[in-house]
Amino acid sequence: MAKICFVGLGYVGLVTGTCLADFGNHVIGVDSDKARIESLAQGIVPFYEPGLDDYVARNLENGRLAFTDDLLGAINASRIIFIAVGTPSSSDGSANLDAVFNAARFIAEHVTDEKILVVKSTVPVGTCSDIDRLVRGILDQRGLAIRVDVVSNPEFLREGTSIYDFTHPDKVVIGTESASAQEALKQVYRVLYLNETPFVFVNRETSELIKYANNAFLAMKVSFINELSGLCEKVGANVQDLARAIGRDGRIGSKFLHAGPGYGGSCFPKDTKALAYMANKAENPLKLVEATIAANEDQKARMVRKITDKLGTVTGKTLAILGLTFKPNTDDVRDSPVLDIIEGLLEKGAVLKVFDPMGMKNMQVYYPHNSKIMYCNSEYSATESSDALIITTEWHQFRNLDFTRLGSILKSKIIFDLRNIYDPALIRSFGFEYIGVGVIS
Ligand code: UGA
Repeated sequence: MAKICFVGLGYVGLVTGTCLADFGNHVIGVDSDKARIESLAQGIVPFYEPGLDDYVARNLENGRLAFTDDLLGAINASRIIFIAVGTPSSSDGSANLDAVFNAARFIAEHVTDEKILVVKSTVPVGTCSDIDRLVRGILDQRGLAIRVDVVSNPEFLREGTSIYDFTHPDKVVIGTESASAQEALKQVYRVLYLNETPFVFVNRETSELIKYANNAFLAMKVSFINELSGLCEKVGANVQDLARAIGRDGRIGSKFLHAGPGYGGSCFPKDTKALAYMANKAENPLKLVEATIAANEDQKARMVRKITDKLGTVTGKTLAILGLTFKPNTDDVRDSPVLDIIEGLLEKGAVLKVFDPMGMKNMQVYYPHNSKIMYCNSEYSATESSDALIITTEWHQFRNLDFTRLGSILKSKIIFDLRNIYDPALIRSFGFEYIGVGVIS
């Protein structure tokens, strides 16, 4: 079987490469970070993703997965090369494609035989065609008449559930008009193909846009319910009952209608901004996407106002924050709404005692431990002598807190449940004031 190579072993590259090895493919993972390669070769995964370490260990052991920093060797050994490097946001919202083009350029400068270049990274529409032109130009200069197909194959994995998502996808999207590349990709994903997972074959531009449209629609759903949560508070309605009811309509669907502190993570914020930027550049502004972004910023700011309004002032007050990651089951705090909430509360003079089961190390990159923000070793040590408790991420272990104990260690019995994980009546029965999102306080 042809070998597959993954250039870039961040979240997407490592999860996808490992899962494809588990499907029986021979996969070489390449990254320029030597320390990362050395750890991975010993089965140590550089971030927290449930189940991934077992998958890596198993496939290293059976010899279907290997890691190297030797890009040239990996390219030479592989027919199919996935580019899965990062595409961070630039200050104007556009995606920074330097790593993608650098990888493509290196490959074009060194290939000696037929390859399929699969772009897994999220890239703006037209990038695969630009890569195609770049590769052809370099091959022409080298006087090489070999076939290199450039294919778009976006990913739809969610952090925290990526292995399940990989093995049970709603669809696999493949953007290419080359019949031989389509066939090769069908082989790579043959386990899913045989399971009758829908395969969507489209042109490259459509494939690139599907990725952005998918994330933007989901982000729009979250912003929609978040905006309604504000209205619910004003008019005495309950956003959870509202979401349940509208979600019953099959045309709307119940998922991604949980009101909260705003969406975050490495994808929704970055991809909505990149899509809006791309649309403006094409002189076809996407007003709903722009409104989605603006509503998300408002929601984060509204959370800070909610807390300060209730407490009168937060200056000099100590607040316990439970949850730093942008969602549970990950150690990722990138673009977490909690970053904005922390920033807003610190600006207003609060002292914060924070705890997260997995995200503490990553958060300290943004906010080192000091007298204004203290990293605590449990829910209860964060709460000890605090003026209020704020739940910001819906980790399982925060769903069953001991309210008798909390009541005895908090200075005032006030809970801000920014993920609506508790029944307000239950919390009030312990003598607490309960403030949720879009529910009557
Ligand atoms: C998202 C998409 O769901 C994946 O399909 C996609 O592959 C991925 O981005 C990506 O582009 O790489 P992810 O960022 O891991 O996945 O997280 P989600 O589960 O989608 O949640 C995103 C944010 O929305 C989180 O902050 C979450 O708390 C928030 N959210 C989600 C809500 O506030 N309410 C909801 O009802 C759902």
